[in-house]
Amino acid sequence: MKAVIARRYGAAVEVAEVAEPEMGPRDVRIAVRAASLNPLDFKIRDGKAKLALALKPPLHLGCDVAGVVEAIGREVTRAAIGDEVFVRLEKLRMGGLAERVCADEQFVAKKPKNASFGEAAALPLVTLTALQALREGAALVPGQRVLIHAGAGGVGCHAIQIAKQLGLWVATTTSTKNLAFVKQLGADQVIDYTQEKLRDAVQDLDAVFDTLGGASEIDSLAVTKRGGTVVGVGGMPDAAFAKAWLPWFAPPVIWFATRKRRAEEAKRGAKFVYLFMRPDGTQLAEIAGWVESGALKPQIHKAYPLADVAEAFAELERGRARGKIVIEIS
Ligand SMILES: NC(=O)c1ccc[n+]([C@@H]2O[C@H](COP(=O)([O-])OP(=O)(O)OC[C@H]3O[C@@H](n4cnc5c(N)ncnc54)[C@H](OP(=O)(O)O)[C@@H]3O)[C@@H](O)[C@H]2O)c1
Repeated sequence: MKAVIARRYGAAVEVAEVAEPEMGPRDVRIAVRAASLNPLDFKIRDGKAKLALALKPPLHLGCDVAGVVEAIGREVTRAAIGDEVFVRLEKLRMGGLAERVCADEQFVAKKPKNASFGEAAALPLVTLTALQALREGAALVPGQRVLIHAGAGGVGCHAIQIAKQLGLWVATTTSTKNLAFVKQLGADQVIDYTQEKLRDAVQDLDAVFDTLGGASEIDSLAVTKRGGTVVGVGGMPDAAFAKAWLPWFAPPVIWFATRKRRAEEAKRGAKFVYLFMRPDGTQLAEIAGWVESGALKPQIHKAYPLADVAEAFAELERGRARGKIVIEIS
């Protein structure tokens, strides 16, 4: 079958003939109709996620998929042949940019009925990340105030909508050209990061969802109230993640590299939590319900045919996408 691979760390992505995926007893095999790209895909290609995800080249890329179930393992109870589904693949079973994938049924959910395969493929990683950041990482409850960075990005534009669905007041950051876009997604306050300093625009937030990392995390802690939380997904991990996921030599390095962030946490009385999202079929079913009710609209920047996947990666890496980049597989 055809799949998108990188033959070694740092190599260009290419469409190649690869072996069919192996199906376990609890797996469903999905004929993939569409997949979507995430920055994680080029981070894996470049070896930047190597310490947490020890994948051996050739690297099978892609983790967000929508398609039709074409076979089920003997222990599968929740899915049937012919189901239209979507899934965020398991961390060590990537390879969604392919004609077929296998996934444990616990990570799979029925595709929203009113979404195309491309729209459904856009959702899993970004919506699960947003839901887990807001509801679990920051433990937010209705009425609280959250800042979501990069509101026009793949994560941000879905996080704004999910935050509104959770009953939150939402501020977001974006460049001038995307002000109207994030406003119509439901943001209550829009901060143009090219014109305003974050610390002048907001203060005393209950939480910040920081997808940018680096210096942004220091600013995020500075605008969070005492007892509040900054959930980060785009920068350096925290000590708990380093201990759980990284090799023995990494925690002291992370400890040293995050000293400014830890100093800011102590100064502000706010905490920083690093989130490494997890696949979850039950949460994906909840997300599908929001799409079907019209509360959550998948946002697509552009769709590409499989043959143009290298161009799609280049567009993603420019970092200016408004919503998600989708690859049409079949
Ligand atoms: N740890 C995890 O589990 C996890 C999960 C999901 C994502 N992530 C990470 O989160 C990051 C974001 O992912 P993504 O899919 O949202 O990326 P993306 O779609 O590529 O983000 C692009 C967007 O970022 C915006 N942006 C760039 N610089 C900005 C700034 N200084 N302030 C505000 N907005 C800015 C751009 O808007 P403008 O053109 O308006 O600037 C653009 O719309 C990536 O590093 C990704 O790997 C981690």
